[in-house]
Amino acid sequence: ASKSDQQLISMHEFAAEMYHHILMNTEEGQSALDYLESRGFTHEMIEKNRIGWSLPEWNYMATALQRKGFSEEELVTSGLAIEREQSNGFFDRFRGRIMFPIMNENGKVIAFSGRVLEQSKQEAKYMNSPESPIFQKSQVLYNVHQARNAIRKNRKIVLFEGFMDVIAAGKAGVHNALATMGTSLTAHHIRKMKRFAQEVVICFDGDDAGWEAAKRAAIALNEENFKVEVAVLPGKMDPDDFIREQGAEAFQERIIGKPHAFIAFAMMHARRHKNFQYENDLLQYIQEVLQLLAGRSTPIERDLYIKQLSGETGLSEEAILQQYRKLENKSIGRSRPEKPVENVAKKESKRI
Ligand code: GTP
Ligand code: MN
Ligand code: MN
Ligand code: MN
Ligand code: MN
Repeated sequence: ASKSDQQLISMHEFAAEMYHHILMNTEEGQSALDYLESRGFTHEMIEKNRIGWSLPEWNYMATALQRKGFSEEELVTSGLAIEREQSNGFFDRFRGRIMFPIMNENGKVIAFSGRVLEQSKQEAKYMNSPESPIFQKSQVLYNVHQARNAIRKNRKIVLFEGFMDVIAAGKAGVHNALATMGTSLTAHHIRKMKRFAQEVVICFDGDDAGWEAAKRAAIALNEENFKVEVAVLPGKMDPDDFIREQGAEAFQERIIGKPHAFIAFAMMHARRHKNFQYENDLLQYIQEVLQLLAGRSTPIERDLYIKQLSGETGLSEEAILQQYRKLENKSIGRSRPEKPVENVAKKESKRI
């Protein structure tokens, strides 16, 4: 990294230490510590993830950083401070938030995500650092530095929607865990993941937003030749909720240990909110599934899922197969080539 990048990293490391100290050792940090404990965070988890608390004061961190000798320009570039519009000086971006450091692949702090203690309509639940020379949201995966060995050992990545889920999963013994920083999965993320494994288990939230995001991520990863499975949570729970309610063993055995194959998940997704008593729903379902199978499935998968479709809908396998052949003819030329990883680089900035 360049000298100015090093300087930005130093600022973040300093800030992380200070936030962490305030959380752990001061009166002002007590309510945040209580909150974390009420959510099942142990001291070990707080230490390991270097969690902290930003004081609800206007410019506590900006002042501390200036005293350390960091320049005004560095203050603003880091995103930790924001320049005042009406007068001289700076105020802190993060005030009165639980601070989660975001680390690069070497474990150095490059950004923060700050969570409010209590959710309200006025304030966003999470606030992230802005983009900076050391932090590109569409590229960073949370927890790479801690997960790398476990990913290599398991030959598999477990991908979560939120970093809270990654932290909870770590406590539950699932260490090969990554998450994006709340953005959708980009080609850049996927290229990074390729360096560590060829298999992914997607484990997103059980609400509608989570199902939609999981479908998009599954398709994107499948297109890049990952073996994709999807672990589904009951109801609208997220992995962190589930672990707190049902425990680590249930999470490992019933959720992470029993993922659905990509196409099986996509069929579950297509069935959601549909009522087969309505002809339109039924036809749409069949069309969605066949479109997914066309050009993507092996003959055995095709046979398996067409049988399943027939069973679910009461239509004959012949009719479904005929429909499938029509779609397959249209999708010729789209059938999965073995793409080299390098190809992903060209699409770097494209959101998927
Ligand atoms: P908790 O409510 O604390 O359990 O967090 P969660 O991990 O369940 O968060 P949620 O499922 O709502 O969101 C998943 C991810 O989306 C988070 O980890 C964030 O990265 C991102 N996210 C959620 N809410 C916000 C927000 O208000 N602002 C920003 N910038 N990102 C958010
Ligand atoms: Mn400590
Ligand atoms: Mn969510
Ligand atoms: Mn969630
Ligand atoms: Mn949650």
